[in-house]
Amino acid sequence: MRALITGVTGFAGSHLADYLLAEQPRVEVFGTYRWRSRTENIEHIMDRIQLVEADLRDYTSIHSTLAEVRPDFIFHLAAQSFVPSSWRSPADTLSTNIEGQTHIFEAIRALELDPVIQIACSSEEYGLVHPDETPIKETNPLRPLSPYVVSKVAQDLLAYQYHQSYGLRAIRTRGFNHTGPRRGEVFVTSNFASQLARIEAGQREPKIKVGNLDAVRDFTDVRDMVRAYWLAVTKATPGEVYNIASGKGITIRELLDRLIALCSVPVEVETDPARLRPSDVAVLVGDNSKFVQATGWQPEIPFDQTLADTLDFWRAKVAREA
Ligand code: GDD
Repeated sequence: MRALITGVTGFAGSHLADYLLAEQPRVEVFGTYRWRSRTENIEHIMDRIQLVEADLRDYTSIHSTLAEVRPDFIFHLAAQSFVPSSWRSPADTLSTNIEGQTHIFEAIRALELDPVIQIACSSEEYGLVHPDETPIKETNPLRPLSPYVVSKVAQDLLAYQYHQSYGLRAIRTRGFNHTGPRRGEVFVTSNFASQLARIEAGQREPKIKVGNLDAVRDFTDVRDMVRAYWLAVTKATPGEVYNIASGKGITIRELLDRLIALCSVPVEVETDPARLRPSDVAVLVGDNSKFVQATGWQPEIPFDQTLADTLDFWRAKVAREA
């Protein structure tokens, strides 16, 4: 069996490749990368996966990639995934995410392939959630609060539509926040952990810069998340949408306090106005019962472990760079 991961050099993509290599020996792993992609997340498995150069925005490259690989499973993880960048460059986020996925779908049709394809949708799609709507079910209205989210709603609905129109075996996973080692430095857990690691190393003054600490998010370790993606393509129902969540919410303030508690030096917290968003999603806590029922998935890694591993990842990176 062949699995193609779009965005294999990224955070979730590289962890998914690790999972498939370790736990699914019958699966051959292929991944797309762009000519300028950084490969540090996959250096350790370069000799065990097959890389194909492709750019989501270029239909020709997607068509030839699918013609070459002819995958049984596609994990579509490549995207512009940082919410604040979507306010700075909305059109870029919309075209990369929406057109990119359309290219994959149309290439599948043109080549008459029939893969099971997982679409990385997002809990952010729920956007403005009312207090009586948590934990959030898949049936909750979608009230987008950023251009990024509009792109994810479009990806989600396109997958639904291609399933209805052409029988495409798309499975939509609405992933709630996931984090862990290799997470890009712009995202909250990694950003706080990298600042703390640099403070510990004496590279910056003992002041950590933060944005909105009142937001509530539902975190899953990335290693549990990618296991869920595999269960999604092997056990869930094509055409359906599933929340992948821990079901537990924590404030970003609590996340920060737990990270600071792991740090070996005292730090001051300072709000950086540039980190505040035009509209932040206030509360995201998911109801995962539909996915658990379909697949038996349960998150296994405690969040304190995830935080400790993330901080250790940054400590090692900072030490390497010094
Ligand atoms: N990035 C960042 N940096 N976020 C901060 C900071 C900071 O210094 N301080 C507070 N926050 C708050 C944000 O305002 C937000 O409420 C929360 O921390 C999480 O921010 P991110 O880590 O940037 O993630 P996100 O929730 O916006 O989006 C992530 O999760 C989505 C799934 O729910 C991304 O991975 C998306 O791609 C994904 O769809």
